[in-house]
Amino acid sequence: MKGVILAGGTGTRLRPLTKMINKHLLPVGKYPMIYYGIEKLRAAGITDILLITGKHSVSLYTEFLGSGKEWGVNISYKIQEEAGGIADALELAHNFVHPGEKLLVLLGDNLFEDSLAGYVKQFETQPEGAKVFLKEVEDARRYGVPVMEGDLIKRIEEKPEHPQSSYCVTGIYLYDSTVFDLIKTVEPSARGEMEITDVNNLYASQGKLSYHLLTGWWIDAGTFPSWFEASDKLREYPNVEAAAPKSGAGDDK
Ligand code: DAU
Repeated sequence: MKGVILAGGTGTRLRPLTKMINKHLLPVGKYPMIYYGIEKLRAAGITDILLITGKHSVSLYTEFLGSGKEWGVNISYKIQEEAGGIADALELAHNFVHPGEKLLVLLGDNLFEDSLAGYVKQFETQPEGAKVFLKEVEDARRYGVPVMEGDLIKRIEEKPEHPQSSYCVTGIYLYDSTVFDLIKTVEPSARGEMEITDVNNLYASQGKLSYHLLTGWWIDAGTFPSWFEASDKLREYPNVEAAAPKSGAGDDK
């Protein structure tokens, strides 16, 4: 399975910091935010990773991550010229994923506790469709909100004023390669973005969108309160030490 991490966008809710630096390079604990997503994919056995970001900070990403060798993965990069939405960014991965291959897409500002390994293994055996990961949240209006029916999602409402459930659709998505055909049929939303929710709703309308509930903590670190919360949580993150490279400039003696 291929991995795609989306790290573009404008990061408006973290201004003024994001005026000069891409959101996913902001520190969370000892590492830049982007690190944790890469580690989650690596731990799930996904080592072919495409990182998509805007043009302004890309050299900082390559400086930190390089080819990914030091981190046990193989990273390639694509530039999203303008922040045209999550589905617009994902479209850039169409040549990276071969027909028939599956992919895990991660929004770079989503930080979480659950391991993805079991879910990835299970999805590998699923013939087709897509899967999203849900988490119960206090203010569902900030997110994509699912309307569930049994094991399937009937539809997702993006940032609804009156949420139909207290769950949010997190930025962790599993797709078959038909996702790229679906993206082509999506039109920009009222706010001018190609919405991932519209893509997911196309799967939902075909009865092909299922879900898992995350059991551990989950944070969309795109606001100041949630970024601070993430830093607190990840200060003690156990896997980080295990996965950190053995040698490095940080080794003060
Ligand atoms: O975090 C979960 C939520 O993420 C979902 O519940 C929503 O359905 C989904 O639309 C998204 O909402 P946000 O308002 O949090 O999206 P945001 O604009 O913050 O972008 C999320 C990530 O996607 C961010 O890490 C950067 C990346 N991105 C975003 C845009 C708009 C790109 O790579 N390119 C883009 O053009």
